[in-house]
Amino acid sequence: MKQNKNLLRFTIITILTIPLFYFFNFVTDKKNALANINDKQIVEVFKTPTCGCCNGYVLFLEKERFKVKQTDMDSLHKIKQKYTIPLEMQSCHTTIIDKYFVEGHVPLEAINKLLKEQPNIDGIALPGMPIGTPGMPGDKYEPYVIYQIINGKYSVFMTI
Ligand code: CU
Ligand code: CU
Repeated sequence: MKQNKNLLRFTIITILTIPLFYFFNFVTDKKNALANINDKQIVEVFKTPTCGCCNGYVLFLEKERFKVKQTDMDSLHKIKQKYTIPLEMQSCHTTIIDKYFVEGHVPLEAINKLLKEQPNIDGIALPGMPIGTPGMPGDKYEPYVIYQIINGKYSVFMTI
């Protein structure tokens, strides 16, 4: 009799848990779908062939469901020049997304803000290679300041 009671309890708990499981799955799916507003958008990453953290950034973009075209170059000088990215704004790689350049290890929040708001700028940049950014190892220990650039002139775009 006691065993039967236990079995009944188990059955009830299982039946109650299943919809809950599906519900949470549904919520996370929705969240993932919203993570990147331009799902499957083709982007191009210009990098040097041996750059490990650049590769890390490519993997990050792919994880966020961008379709990434990689272009390896011995020197990125021409790219930085073409898009007028000032020296103090430069990083190890340059990504072209939509009509913008995205310089360096820029987090998804800033990319999404750029794609959503479509500001009248040339691109955004996170200079250097801050620890803990997408593609860079370590834990974040300071705010990331992302700049917007127009004709080589820059100002703060957002701080994460
Ligand atoms: Cu890097
Ligand atoms: Cu890089």
